[in-house]
Amino acid sequence: MRNRARITWSVGLAGLALLPVWAAEISGPEGYFGAPMAGISESEALAFDRGFQIFARAWPSEREQRNAESCVTCHSLPMPGGSGASQETLVLVDAQTGIPHHVGDGRSISIQGALRRPPPLFGLGLLEFSDGLENAARFGSRGQTASLHDFVFAAFAFELGVSTSKHCVTASPCRPGISDAQVNDVVTFLRFLSPPPARSAGKGAEHFRNLNCDNCHTPISRTDFDAPLSLAGMTFAAYTDQKFHSLGPSPKIVTPPLWGLSSVGPPYWHDGSVGSIEETILAHGGEAAEARAGFLRMTQAEQEALLAFLRSL
Ligand code: HEC
Ligand code: HEC
Repeated sequence: MRNRARITWSVGLAGLALLPVWAAEISGPEGYFGAPMAGISESEALAFDRGFQIFARAWPSEREQRNAESCVTCHSLPMPGGSGASQETLVLVDAQTGIPHHVGDGRSISIQGALRRPPPLFGLGLLEFSDGLENAARFGSRGQTASLHDFVFAAFAFELGVSTSKHCVTASPCRPGISDAQVNDVVTFLRFLSPPPARSAGKGAEHFRNLNCDNCHTPISRTDFDAPLSLAGMTFAAYTDQKFHSLGPSPKIVTPPLWGLSSVGPPYWHDGSVGSIEETILAHGGEAAEARAGFLRMTQAEQEALLAFLRSL
Protein backbone atom coordinates (compact mmCIF):
# COMPACT_ATOMS: atom_id res chain seq x y z
CA MET A 1 0.00 0.00 0.00
CA ARG A 2 2.73 2.41 0.97
CA ASN A 3 4.66 1.71 -2.20
CA ARG A 4 1.61 2.14 -4.35
CA ALA A 5 0.94 5.51 -2.72
CA ARG A 6 4.48 6.55 -3.40
CA ILE A 7 4.13 5.89 -7.10
CA THR A 8 0.70 7.41 -7.53
CA TRP A 9 1.62 10.59 -5.75
CA SER A 10 5.05 11.24 -7.17
CA VAL A 11 3.81 14.11 -9.35
CA GLY A 12 5.98 17.20 -9.13
CA LEU A 13 8.58 15.55 -6.98
CA ALA A 14 11.55 17.56 -8.18
CA GLY A 15 13.57 16.27 -5.24
CA LEU A 16 13.63 12.77 -6.72
CA ALA A 17 16.22 13.90 -9.23
CA LEU A 18 18.67 14.58 -6.41
CA LEU A 19 20.22 11.67 -4.64
CA PRO A 20 19.57 12.32 -0.98
CA VAL A 21 22.80 12.79 0.96
CA TRP A 22 22.11 12.13 4.63
CA ALA A 23 23.45 14.85 6.87
CA ALA A 24 26.05 13.28 9.08
CA GLU A 25 24.96 14.89 12.34
CA ILE A 26 21.38 13.64 12.08
CA SER A 27 20.84 10.40 13.94
CA GLY A 28 17.70 8.38 13.74
CA PRO A 29 14.88 9.55 11.56
CA GLU A 30 15.50 8.55 8.00
CA GLY A 31 12.97 7.84 5.37
CA TYR A 32 11.22 9.37 2.45
CA PHE A 33 8.09 11.41 1.88
CA GLY A 34 5.11 9.24 2.69
CA ALA A 35 7.10 6.43 4.28
CA PRO A 36 6.81 5.40 7.93
CA MET A 37 9.80 6.12 10.15
CA ALA A 38 12.34 3.37 10.48
CA GLY A 39 12.35 1.44 13.72
CA ILE A 40 8.65 1.55 14.57
CA SER A 41 7.07 -1.53 16.10
CA GLU A 42 4.96 -3.98 14.15
CA SER A 43 1.72 -2.82 15.76
CA GLU A 44 2.64 0.82 15.05
CA ALA A 45 3.33 -0.12 11.43
CA LEU A 46 -0.07 -1.80 11.12
CA ALA A 47 -1.83 1.22 12.64
CA PHE A 48 0.20 3.48 10.31
CA ASP A 49 -1.14 1.59 7.28
CA ARG A 50 -4.72 1.68 8.53
CA GLY A 51 -4.35 5.38 9.34
CA PHE A 52 -3.03 6.06 5.86
CA GLN A 53 -6.11 4.44 4.31
CA ILE A 54 -8.44 6.49 6.49
CA PHE A 55 -6.49 9.66 5.68
CA ALA A 56 -6.69 8.95 1.94
CA ARG A 57 -10.29 7.73 1.57
CA ALA A 58 -13.39 9.79 0.86
CA TRP A 59 -15.84 10.17 3.78
CA PRO A 60 -19.56 10.75 3.38
CA SER A 61 -20.51 14.12 4.86
CA GLU A 62 -23.18 14.57 7.48
CA ARG A 63 -23.93 18.11 6.38
CA GLU A 64 -24.22 19.94 3.11
CA GLN A 65 -21.27 22.22 3.47
CA ARG A 66 -17.79 21.05 4.19
CA ASN A 67 -14.32 21.76 2.93
CA ALA A 68 -13.37 18.45 1.34
CA GLU A 69 -14.22 14.76 1.25
CA SER A 70 -10.82 13.50 2.40
CA CYS A 71 -7.77 14.66 4.32
CA VAL A 72 -5.61 13.98 1.29
CA THR A 73 -7.55 16.51 -0.79
CA CYS A 74 -5.65 19.24 1.08
CA HIS A 75 -2.56 17.37 2.28
CA SER A 76 -1.13 15.77 -0.85
CA LEU A 77 2.11 17.43 -1.98
CA PRO A 78 4.39 15.72 -2.85
CA MET A 79 2.71 12.69 -1.17
CA PRO A 80 -0.27 12.02 1.09
CA GLY A 81 0.49 13.87 4.32
CA GLY A 82 1.94 16.86 2.48
CA SER A 83 0.75 20.36 1.75
CA GLY A 84 -1.91 21.79 -0.53
CA ALA A 85 -1.08 24.19 -3.33
CA SER A 86 -4.36 25.14 -4.94
CA GLN A 87 -6.83 27.86 -3.95
CA GLU A 88 -9.44 25.23 -3.08
CA THR A 89 -7.23 23.90 -0.31
CA LEU A 90 -6.86 27.24 1.48
CA VAL A 91 -9.05 27.38 4.57
CA LEU A 92 -10.54 30.36 6.34
CA VAL A 93 -9.85 29.98 10.06
CA ASP A 94 -11.55 31.92 12.82
CA ALA A 95 -9.41 34.87 13.90
CA GLN A 96 -10.12 34.24 17.59
CA THR A 97 -10.19 30.49 17.99
CA GLY A 98 -8.21 29.25 15.01
CA ILE A 99 -11.03 26.82 14.23
CA PRO A 100 -11.60 26.35 10.51
CA HIS A 101 -14.82 27.53 8.90
CA HIS A 102 -16.08 25.70 5.93
CA VAL A 103 -14.81 27.21 2.74
CA GLY A 104 -18.33 28.15 1.72
CA ASP A 105 -18.72 30.39 4.77
CA GLY A 106 -15.85 32.59 3.73
CA ARG A 107 -17.31 33.22 0.30
CA SER A 108 -20.85 33.99 1.36
CA ILE A 109 -20.79 35.88 4.65
CA SER A 110 -18.25 38.17 6.23
CA ILE A 111 -16.47 36.26 8.95
CA GLN A 112 -13.48 37.56 10.84
CA GLY A 113 -10.91 35.10 9.68
CA ALA A 114 -7.63 34.53 7.99
CA LEU A 115 -6.68 32.26 5.13
CA ARG A 116 -4.41 29.36 5.90
CA ARG A 117 -2.45 27.12 3.58
CA PRO A 118 -2.42 23.41 4.52
CA PRO A 119 1.05 22.80 5.98
CA PRO A 120 2.90 19.56 5.24
CA LEU A 121 2.57 17.01 8.03
CA PHE A 122 5.83 15.07 7.49
CA GLY A 123 7.82 14.55 10.68
CA LEU A 124 4.97 15.81 12.86
CA GLY A 125 5.66 13.19 15.55
CA LEU A 126 9.17 14.56 16.05
CA LEU A 127 7.83 18.10 16.39
CA GLU A 128 5.11 16.87 18.72
CA PHE A 129 7.66 15.42 21.12
CA SER A 130 10.54 17.85 20.69
CA ASP A 131 12.04 18.84 24.00
CA GLY A 132 12.24 22.29 25.53
CA LEU A 133 8.87 23.32 24.15
CA GLU A 134 7.46 26.10 26.31
CA ASN A 135 4.21 26.44 24.42
CA ALA A 136 1.54 24.03 25.45
CA ALA A 137 -0.19 24.78 22.18
CA ARG A 138 1.67 23.31 19.27
CA PHE A 139 -0.56 22.69 16.31
CA GLY A 140 -1.96 25.10 13.78
CA SER A 141 -0.08 28.20 12.68
CA ARG A 142 -1.49 30.04 15.71
CA GLY A 143 -0.56 27.17 17.98
CA GLN A 144 -4.24 26.91 18.85
CA THR A 145 -4.35 23.20 19.61
CA ALA A 146 -2.38 21.45 22.30
CA SER A 147 -2.25 17.92 20.96
CA LEU A 148 -2.04 16.21 17.63
CA HIS A 149 -4.80 13.98 18.88
CA ASP A 150 -7.19 16.94 19.40
CA PHE A 151 -6.25 18.47 16.05
CA VAL A 152 -7.09 15.29 14.17
CA PHE A 153 -10.46 14.89 15.91
CA ALA A 154 -11.28 18.51 15.02
CA ALA A 155 -10.15 18.07 11.40
CA PHE A 156 -12.67 15.27 10.83
CA ALA A 157 -15.49 17.43 12.12
CA PHE A 158 -14.58 20.86 10.74
CA GLU A 159 -12.91 19.95 7.44
CA LEU A 160 -14.74 16.76 6.41
CA GLY A 161 -18.08 17.21 8.18
CA VAL A 162 -17.73 13.87 9.99
CA SER A 163 -18.86 13.71 13.64
CA THR A 164 -16.48 12.18 16.18
CA SER A 165 -16.97 11.35 19.85
CA LYS A 166 -15.70 14.89 20.58
CA HIS A 167 -17.44 17.02 17.96
CA CYS A 168 -20.93 16.84 16.58
CA VAL A 169 -21.55 18.32 13.16
CA THR A 170 -25.29 17.66 13.05
CA ALA A 171 -28.14 18.43 15.41
CA SER A 172 -28.50 15.83 18.15
CA PRO A 173 -28.73 12.93 18.53
CA CYS A 174 -25.10 12.69 17.58
CA ARG A 175 -23.81 9.52 16.06
CA PRO A 176 -20.07 9.59 15.32
CA GLY A 177 -19.36 8.80 11.66
CA ILE A 178 -15.91 7.57 12.64
CA SER A 179 -14.76 5.56 15.65
CA ASP A 180 -12.14 6.71 18.15
CA ALA A 181 -9.99 3.77 17.10
CA GLN A 182 -10.03 5.00 13.50
CA VAL A 183 -9.12 8.56 14.49
CA ASN A 184 -6.31 7.17 16.62
CA ASP A 185 -4.97 5.27 13.62
CA VAL A 186 -4.77 8.57 11.73
CA VAL A 187 -2.88 10.07 14.68
CA THR A 188 -0.45 7.12 14.47
CA PHE A 189 -0.08 7.61 10.72
CA LEU A 190 0.83 11.28 11.18
CA ARG A 191 3.00 10.66 14.23
CA PHE A 192 5.23 8.18 12.41
CA LEU A 193 5.19 9.80 8.99
CA SER A 194 8.88 10.25 8.11
CA PRO A 195 10.34 13.72 8.13
CA PRO A 196 11.46 15.02 4.72
CA PRO A 197 14.80 13.50 3.72
CA ALA A 198 17.81 15.46 4.99
CA ARG A 199 20.14 16.58 2.24
CA SER A 200 23.56 18.16 2.10
CA ALA A 201 23.97 21.65 3.47
CA GLY A 202 26.56 23.34 1.21
CA LYS A 203 27.95 26.87 1.37
CA GLY A 204 24.61 28.66 1.77
CA ALA A 205 24.28 27.19 5.27
CA GLU A 206 26.98 29.62 6.41
CA HIS A 207 25.03 32.60 5.14
CA PHE A 208 21.94 31.22 6.87
CA ARG A 209 23.87 31.29 10.14
CA ASN A 210 25.51 34.65 9.51
CA LEU A 211 22.16 36.32 8.88
CA ASN A 212 20.81 34.78 12.14
CA CYS A 213 18.05 33.00 10.28
CA ASP A 214 18.80 30.18 12.71
CA ASN A 215 17.62 32.29 15.67
CA CYS A 216 14.12 31.22 14.71
CA HIS A 217 14.71 28.47 12.15
CA THR A 218 16.77 26.45 14.65
CA PRO A 219 18.46 23.74 12.60
CA ILE A 220 18.75 20.93 15.14
CA SER A 221 16.13 19.79 17.61
CA ARG A 222 15.78 16.74 19.78
CA THR A 223 12.85 14.66 20.96
CA ASP A 224 12.50 14.23 24.69
CA PHE A 225 12.79 10.93 26.43
CA ASP A 226 9.07 10.74 27.35
CA ALA A 227 8.25 10.29 23.68
CA PRO A 228 7.01 6.90 22.47
CA LEU A 229 9.96 4.53 22.35
CA SER A 230 10.38 4.70 18.59
CA LEU A 231 10.62 8.52 18.70
CA ALA A 232 12.56 9.09 21.93
CA GLY A 233 15.93 10.85 22.05
CA MET A 234 16.23 11.56 18.33
CA THR A 235 18.00 14.49 16.73
CA PHE A 236 16.33 16.00 13.72
CA ALA A 237 16.72 19.02 11.44
CA ALA A 238 13.35 20.75 11.15
CA TYR A 239 14.67 24.36 11.12
CA THR A 240 12.12 25.70 13.58
CA ASP A 241 12.12 26.84 17.20
CA GLN A 242 8.34 26.11 17.31
CA LYS A 243 7.86 29.53 18.91
CA PHE A 244 5.70 32.54 18.15
CA HIS A 245 7.18 35.52 16.33
CA SER A 246 5.81 38.71 14.93
CA LEU A 247 7.05 39.43 11.42
CA GLY A 248 5.04 42.57 10.92
CA PRO A 249 1.54 43.86 11.33
CA SER A 250 -0.17 40.44 11.22
CA PRO A 251 -0.64 38.36 14.41
CA LYS A 252 2.22 36.33 15.83
CA ILE A 253 2.82 33.07 14.10
CA VAL A 254 4.75 29.88 14.89
CA THR A 255 8.01 29.57 12.90
CA PRO A 256 7.30 27.01 10.18
CA PRO A 257 9.80 24.16 9.76
CA LEU A 258 11.89 24.61 6.61
CA TRP A 259 12.60 20.93 6.04
CA GLY A 260 11.25 19.76 2.69
CA LEU A 261 10.67 23.42 1.71
CA SER A 262 10.98 23.11 -2.06
CA SER A 263 9.03 19.83 -2.20
CA VAL A 264 5.94 21.16 -0.42
CA GLY A 265 5.67 24.59 -2.07
CA PRO A 266 5.06 26.96 -3.81
CA PRO A 267 2.98 28.67 -2.65
CA TYR A 268 4.65 29.60 0.64
CA TRP A 269 3.74 31.55 3.80
CA HIS A 270 0.96 30.74 6.28
CA ASP A 271 -1.69 31.96 3.88
CA GLY A 272 -0.10 30.79 0.64
CA SER A 273 0.41 34.40 -0.44
CA VAL A 274 4.09 34.19 -1.42
CA GLY A 275 5.10 32.68 -4.74
CA SER A 276 8.85 32.02 -4.44
CA ILE A 277 11.48 31.26 -1.82
CA GLU A 278 13.29 34.53 -2.53
CA GLU A 279 10.09 36.50 -1.93
CA THR A 280 9.58 34.76 1.41
CA ILE A 281 12.84 36.31 2.65
CA LEU A 282 11.68 39.74 1.50
CA ALA A 283 8.36 39.20 3.29
CA HIS A 284 10.16 38.95 6.67
CA GLY A 285 9.67 42.12 8.72
CA GLY A 286 9.16 42.87 12.41
CA GLU A 287 11.41 40.68 14.54
CA ALA A 288 13.11 39.41 11.37
CA ALA A 289 13.66 42.82 9.74
CA GLU A 290 17.39 42.64 10.46
CA ALA A 291 17.72 39.27 8.70
CA ARG A 292 15.92 40.65 5.66
CA ALA A 293 18.17 43.73 5.59
CA GLY A 294 21.22 41.48 5.83
CA PHE A 295 20.00 39.47 2.84
CA LEU A 296 19.60 42.65 0.78
CA ARG A 297 23.18 43.68 1.63
CA MET A 298 24.64 40.40 0.35
CA THR A 299 26.22 40.06 -3.08
CA GLN A 300 24.21 38.29 -5.76
CA ALA A 301 26.45 35.23 -5.50
CA GLU A 302 25.89 35.02 -1.75
CA GLN A 303 22.13 35.39 -2.18
CA GLU A 304 22.19 32.62 -4.79
CA ALA A 305 24.10 30.35 -2.40
CA LEU A 306 21.58 30.98 0.38
CA LEU A 307 18.66 30.26 -1.94
CA ALA A 308 20.36 27.07 -3.18
CA PHE A 309 20.69 26.00 0.45
CA LEU A 310 17.01 26.66 1.14
CA ARG A 311 16.01 24.76 -1.99
CA SER A 312 18.13 21.82 -0.83
CA LEU A 313 16.29 21.45 2.49
C1 HEC B 1 -9.84 21.91 3.14
C2 HEC B 1 -8.46 21.62 3.37
C3 HEC B 1 -8.08 20.70 4.52
C4 HEC B 1 -8.55 19.43 4.79
C5 HEC B 1 -9.63 18.66 4.05
C6 HEC B 1 -7.78 18.95 5.91
N1 HEC B 1 -6.87 19.90 6.32
FE1 HEC B 1 -5.48 19.67 7.79
N2 HEC B 1 -4.97 21.62 7.59
C7 HEC B 1 -5.50 22.50 6.67
C8 HEC B 1 -5.01 23.83 6.96
C9 HEC B 1 -5.36 25.10 6.17
C10 HEC B 1 -4.20 23.74 8.10
C11 HEC B 1 -3.49 24.88 8.82
C12 HEC B 1 -4.37 25.38 9.94
C13 HEC B 1 -3.71 26.48 10.72
O1 HEC B 1 -2.63 26.92 10.35
O2 HEC B 1 -4.30 26.91 11.72
C14 HEC B 1 -4.19 22.32 8.47
C15 HEC B 1 -3.45 21.81 9.54
C16 HEC B 1 -3.44 20.48 9.91
C17 HEC B 1 -2.66 19.95 11.02
C18 HEC B 1 -1.72 20.75 11.93
C19 HEC B 1 -0.34 20.80 11.34
C20 HEC B 1 0.63 21.68 12.11
O3 HEC B 1 1.84 21.60 11.80
O4 HEC B 1 0.25 22.44 12.98
C21 HEC B 1 -2.96 18.62 11.09
C22 HEC B 1 -2.39 17.62 12.09
C23 HEC B 1 -3.92 18.32 10.05
N3 HEC B 1 -4.19 19.49 9.35
C24 HEC B 1 -4.49 17.08 9.82
C25 HEC B 1 -5.58 16.87 8.98
C26 HEC B 1 -6.39 15.64 8.95
C27 HEC B 1 -6.11 14.40 9.78
C28 HEC B 1 -7.37 15.82 8.02
C29 HEC B 1 -8.52 14.89 7.67
C30 HEC B 1 -9.38 14.51 8.78
C31 HEC B 1 -7.18 17.16 7.48
N4 HEC B 1 -6.10 17.76 8.09
C32 HEC B 1 -7.98 17.71 6.50
C33 HEC B 1 -6.33 22.17 5.62
C34 HEC B 1 -7.02 20.99 5.51
C1 HEC C 1 12.35 36.33 14.11
C2 HEC C 1 12.23 34.97 13.63
C3 HEC C 1 12.65 34.67 12.19
C4 HEC C 1 13.85 34.98 11.58
C5 HEC C 1 15.06 35.70 12.15
C6 HEC C 1 13.74 34.42 10.23
N1 HEC C 1 12.53 33.82 10.06
FE1 HEC C 1 11.89 32.88 8.38
N2 HEC C 1 10.03 32.73 9.18
C7 HEC C 1 9.68 33.08 10.45
C8 HEC C 1 8.25 32.97 10.61
C9 HEC C 1 7.45 33.25 11.86
C10 HEC C 1 7.75 32.56 9.36
C11 HEC C 1 6.29 32.34 8.95
C12 HEC C 1 5.74 33.62 8.36
C13 HEC C 1 4.34 33.48 7.84
O1 HEC C 1 4.00 32.46 7.23
O2 HEC C 1 3.57 34.42 8.07
C14 HEC C 1 8.92 32.39 8.49
C15 HEC C 1 8.86 31.93 7.17
C16 HEC C 1 9.97 31.62 6.41
C17 HEC C 1 9.94 30.94 5.14
C18 HEC C 1 8.69 30.42 4.44
C19 HEC C 1 8.32 29.03 4.93
C20 HEC C 1 7.03 28.50 4.37
O3 HEC C 1 6.81 27.28 4.50
O4 HEC C 1 6.23 29.26 3.83
C21 HEC C 1 11.24 30.85 4.70
C22 HEC C 1 11.74 30.18 3.43
C23 HEC C 1 12.06 31.48 5.68
N3 HEC C 1 11.26 31.93 6.72
C24 HEC C 1 13.44 31.62 5.59
C25 HEC C 1 14.16 32.49 6.40
C26 HEC C 1 15.51 32.94 6.13
C27 HEC C 1 16.34 32.53 4.93
C28 HEC C 1 15.86 33.79 7.14
C29 HEC C 1 17.13 34.58 7.28
C30 HEC C 1 17.40 35.51 6.20
C31 HEC C 1 14.74 33.83 8.07
N4 HEC C 1 13.73 33.05 7.58
C32 HEC C 1 14.73 34.52 9.27
C33 HEC C 1 10.55 33.48 11.45
C34 HEC C 1 11.83 33.96 11.23
